[in-house]
Amino acid sequence: MSPPQGSGDLVIKGGRPLRGSVVTSGSKNAVLGAMAATLLVEDECLLTNVPRIGDVEQMARVLRSLGAKVEWAGDHALKIDSSGLNSSTPDRSAESLRGSFAIMGALLSRLGEAACPPPGGDVIGLRPVDVHLKGFAALGVEVVESDEWFELRVDALRGADIFNDYPSVLGTQNLMLAAVCAEGVTTIVNAAAEPEVQGLAEMLRGMGAKVRGDGTHTVEVEGVASLHGTEYEVIPDRLEAGTFAIAAGVTGGEVEVRNARPEHLTSLIHKLRECGLNVACEGDRISVRAAAKVRPVTIQALPYPGFATDLQAPLAVLLTQAEGKSRVQERVFDNRLLYVDELRKMGAMIETKDRTTAIISGPTPLSGAKVRALDVRAGAALILAGLAADGTTEITDMHHVDRGYEAIDERLRSLGADIERV
Ligand code: EPU
Repeated sequence: MSPPQGSGDLVIKGGRPLRGSVVTSGSKNAVLGAMAATLLVEDECLLTNVPRIGDVEQMARVLRSLGAKVEWAGDHALKIDSSGLNSSTPDRSAESLRGSFAIMGALLSRLGEAACPPPGGDVIGLRPVDVHLKGFAALGVEVVESDEWFELRVDALRGADIFNDYPSVLGTQNLMLAAVCAEGVTTIVNAAAEPEVQGLAEMLRGMGAKVRGDGTHTVEVEGVASLHGTEYEVIPDRLEAGTFAIAAGVTGGEVEVRNARPEHLTSLIHKLRECGLNVACEGDRISVRAAAKVRPVTIQALPYPGFATDLQAPLAVLLTQAEGKSRVQERVFDNRLLYVDELRKMGAMIETKDRTTAIISGPTPLSGAKVRALDVRAGAALILAGLAADGTTEITDMHHVDRGYEAIDERLRSLGADIERV
């Protein structure tokens, strides 16, 4: 498997409106759950529409460390054969990404045991796993927890009624993976309704599982005796599609985003229209034309179908160009406004309160600066700011962005951006 792209710094000469058409990649957060699901069966699985991103490489390492064979079968197809699964404990590569924790549910189903270090991922606030562990315990799993490691063991998984204290995305996915072959029915109340959960449910059904209610806040899983391999096409990345849509508005351009699912982006589309942008959806295409004047808006990042926390930072960049004060409230993670300091270096006028509220005053001309990508979405936001700024922006720590966006520089260049890796 070759690396998706080199890291390096990104150098952007801003001020060019983006124009043209771009194809959305497969979803980062959906593919990680799908890769974990392949551990459920001895048969080979084929995943298509797989993005070439850093997190997929890392997840492949995790699966290999358990004895699975993971190979590219084309540009965006991944063949995974878990017949040789020989361990319930991954190596330390599992610490580098949050999504790795989804192996827990799948390993419990297949082997009756699983272990994992605390999962890593972006530093965006406290990221506990209590929802996962409480749900596993309800299914009969013995949980041993230390600072260094989580160890799970079960003789026989039994279906149960589970109430999630929070509608956690990975937590819901993990419980679905653990419940698919449990004896009896599992009902997950206050489940996450995110499209990535629906994507996993669709794949599990393709493997012979009985899952209902995905996309609502009550998911029901009726345990089956066995599952089989499948071929599954990963859903388009709504967060990447959303980033390109916002890019059109930020640069004063016009972009058509193809292979998207507009129904997964309802909250963003509403907000872009409220800002005055022209957004048209037809089939799997979203066309966005910038507004002569951007209007300020209020956004609250919430679980789906609320405004996506992952698009909060990118939208904030557009709001620096709005005429008046906008308010951005992050209600999913408790420390996801760290990008604000970097945007201020470029001239943005943003006040923050309690680490979760940002008041953005605009319009402010942005100017090029040297800034750091602090996490995948914060990095994407800085790229958008660089595209809109006067002068040259240099973005360091691009490996964060490469974890979640495939060849972002090449694709923005195809839309007319002056952008280079150095
Ligand atoms: N939470 C708990 N207890 C838990 C789990 C979560 O209190 O056991 C809290 C978290 O502290 C957080 C909130 O619930 O405040 C949301 O966390 P959630 O578990 O839903 O997030 P996640 O599953 O860890 C996934 C995505 C994130 C995305 C969130 C929210 C993956 C690998 N990651 O994380 O993606 O922001 O859902 O939609 O699926 C990104 O792509 O940039 C990214 C960070």
